[in-house]
Amino acid sequence: SAGGSLYERIGPEALSALVTRFYMLVAQDPDLAPIFPNDLTLTAEKQLAFLTGFLGGPPLYHRTYGPPRLRARHLPHAITPTRGRAWLACMARALRDTPQIGEAEARELHSALTRVAAHMVNTAEEGG
Ligand code: HEM
Repeated sequence: SAGGSLYERIGPEALSALVTRFYMLVAQDPDLAPIFPNDLTLTAEKQLAFLTGFLGGPPLYHRTYGPPRLRARHLPHAITPTRGRAWLACMARALRDTPQIGEAEARELHSALTRVAAHMVNTAEEGG
């Protein structure tokens, strides 16, 4: 539908399906898997909570974990430009794999996340 926040237009079930699919792809990605925990349960819970607020829904992440300060929270992880691209590619594929999310919403979400992802890059490309 036209009105409402992106969160309302996507809905909690589709958002949850997206996040689940996304971390299945992250776990299989050779650039990303090494920097993520083996058990992605809590990571996925945090991401779902974050995206809920980010897209205009209730501020679930903030309530449980405090201010997101995402760039600071990512500093312990070496996020190279390659990993930024891999993250966005997993997200693009997860969006395609989640047919409950309409094309317009998928496009909007992907462009918003492209900006956030660029902000998370904190490390020059590793050797090779
Ligand atoms: C946590 C990688 C971009 C949101 C993490 C963690 C890693 C990571 C390794 C720690 C996982 C854990 O220990 O549970 C990356 C990479 C990115 C990226 C490689 C590529 C640019 C993003 C973006 C967002 C985001 C764009 C937001 C839309 C989060 C959140 C957490 C997280 C909410 C949990 C923070 C916490 O511990 O409370 N990310 N991330 N990340 N990431 Fe990212």
